[in-house]
Amino acid sequence: MTVNGELITQLGAKADPDRDEISLDGKPIEPGQDKLYVLLNKPTGYTSTRFDRFAKNTVMELVDTIGTYLYPVGRLDVDTSGLMVLTNDGDFAQLIMHPSHQIEKTYVAEVHGKINAEALNALERGIELDDGPTAPAKVHLISYSPETDISKVELIIHEGRKRQVRRMLAAVGHRVVKLARVRLGDLDLKGVPEGQYRFLTQKEVSRLKKLATPKTTKKDPGAR
Ligand code: URA
Repeated sequence: MTVNGELITQLGAKADPDRDEISLDGKPIEPGQDKLYVLLNKPTGYTSTRFDRFAKNTVMELVDTIGTYLYPVGRLDVDTSGLMVLTNDGDFAQLIMHPSHQIEKTYVAEVHGKINAEALNALERGIELDDGPTAPAKVHLISYSPETDISKVELIIHEGRKRQVRRMLAAVGHRVVKLARVRLGDLDLKGVPEGQYRFLTQKEVSRLKKLATPKTTKKDPGAR
């Protein structure tokens, strides 16, 4: 940890959160935070679980210099790259991952073949998978290259089922060759190169909590 650029080596060293700039692992953190929230740009080849006996690499290696027990909020497949949040705040993780409060996640997929309007409409309506139908998705065709016969498509979903995007695209006849999560709620990967991370600000954490908190429907004052 550094305070105003100076390495702190003494236990119990003091910093003034209003005046001092506190950094951990070279990244500024909000002072007074014992809860940490990390945005990681996960490369492919890294497993997103904490422990996996069979994994060559886990995302924990990318954040281990933080020196705190963090766990991933949700999963990305080993062959998916992109935005992951890790935290030591169990309540936050549960809130964000709860199946009924899921936040919008934006994926960019590259698939074999030309995706036609019919497939895009089917994805938008929802797809029947072997574990049940998917909720309607927002889908946008970004590009198609006749040279490579690859379509690039953006999908916004709020569920988090196992290999969901790959299975949705396979169900409409397209095999995914590359998949990245580019947004989670309002968060994106701007300024965070692959394999790197940054800390979320308090404001970003509050916003995520708000997005994940179910909206209570106001009672109609006229209703009995
Ligand atoms: N959908 C997938 O298929 N894989 C992921 O890693 C995330 C969403």
